Amino acid sequence: MKAKEPIRIGVAGAARRGGHFTDSLKALNVVVAAVCDIKKERLEECKAQMGAEEAYTDYEQMLDSAKLDAVLVATPMFLHADQAIAALSRNIHVLSEVTAGVSVDECKRLVRATKQSKAIYMMAENYIYMRPNQFVQGLVNAGMFGEVYYAEGEYIHELKQLMEETPWRRKWGSGIRGITYPTHSLGPILTWMERDRVERVCCEDTGSHYVDPRGEAYAADSATMLAKTQKKRLIKIRFDMVSDRPHAMTNYQLQGTDGAYESARSHQERAKIWLRGVNADQQNWLDAETLMLQEAYARHLPEVWRNPPAILHNDWHGGGDYLVLRDFIAAVRGEIPCPIDIHRALDMTLPGLMSQQSILQDGAWMEVPDSRLW
Ligand SMILES: NC(=O)c1ccc[n+]([C@@H]2O[C@H](COP(=O)([O-])OP(=O)(O)OC[C@H]3O[C@@H](n4cnc5c(N)ncnc54)[C@H](O)[C@@H]3O)[C@@H](O)[C@H]2O)c1
Repeated sequence: MKAKEPIRIGVAGAARRGGHFTDSLKALNVVVAAVCDIKKERLEECKAQMGAEEAYTDYEQMLDSAKLDAVLVATPMFLHADQAIAALSRNIHVLSEVTAGVSVDECKRLVRATKQSKAIYMMAENYIYMRPNQFVQGLVNAGMFGEVYYAEGEYIHELKQLMEETPWRRKWGSGIRGITYPTHSLGPILTWMERDRVERVCCEDTGSHYVDPRGEAYAADSATMLAKTQKKRLIKIRFDMVSDRPHAMTNYQLQGTDGAYESARSHQERAKIWLRGVNADQQNWLDAETLMLQEAYARHLPEVWRNPPAILHNDWHGGGDYLVLRDFIAAVRGEIPCPIDIHRALDMTLPGLMSQQSILQDGAWMEVPDSRLW
């Protein structure tokens, strides 16, 4: 792809999640060649909002007719792998919403399709790009945490009403025991633990204390997965889309030999950090936001967060949507290696799928396949 040529993208799932990318697509000068959604009644509105040339209700017809360079797959989770494969088989680049797939078999087919394609596959794990997570990344890269050996991530987001509005979530999100939506937690953590992957997981849950409007119990309220990485680090992930309580989707902790980090668990809190190199007093946390603003430490933020373009102030998911799209475009143009390629996407997806098998075996430890060996 030549640097100057505008990229022509098709947006699948345009009537919901796909539409969140409207401003980012404009800011990045991407041509929305087509929008696609099965909600026919919403299509004209989506087309106008996104400035699209065409609109389709049939995904494969869009792939065949709209002269696309790339597609954004922002449809329900259980469609991601098949829709990505359909695009890759036509050498159309794919930016897929999370998760990459809902079964190990799907993931295998996705790897095969990516290997056979001239196009790239990237998973749109946007939480990695949030400012606090990028700051931690910069500090880890600079060695300020010392040797990193432990992390926690939590995605706690009460979504019972949304599950009624989007029944696929009731099935694929809260109808299966285990961690069905791991990537927002594992994404940043595995980025902090670069060149490492989860090798084994075990998982347990609380059982179910809530019923849906039909009186049917959810698979569970809250599930916790323990993960051991190839480099013997330990990760704890809590996932909960059911419990009544305030949201907390961006909870993280990181521990290294020289530092510790605890994210803000709500808008009433602030993130805390302790770094031996900054403050030898081990009993007192520093305010992470204050540290981030100090010149000596701000340099650990990527340039885009030191001088953020206007769009980052209003973007969805703390700027993550714009930045994930920016990197996808750069990868399509060959300017950077794909940052969340098929194997990294599966490093973030497969532990969740294996946790679902662990929980059916009373929390037994399960090996997580390495997609690089497929
Ligand atoms: N990364 C994030 O922060 C984030 C946030 C929200 C949602 N998501 C992910 O985005 C995806 C969509 O989530 P959502 O909340 O918009 O779901 P949704 O069900 O509200 O919307 C999905 C849209 O896709 C359309 N659709 C369904 N089948 C289709 C098909 N075959 N072809 C074209 N369009 C089709 C639906 O009509 C709907 O408009 C999910 O996988 C979800 O996990 C990610």
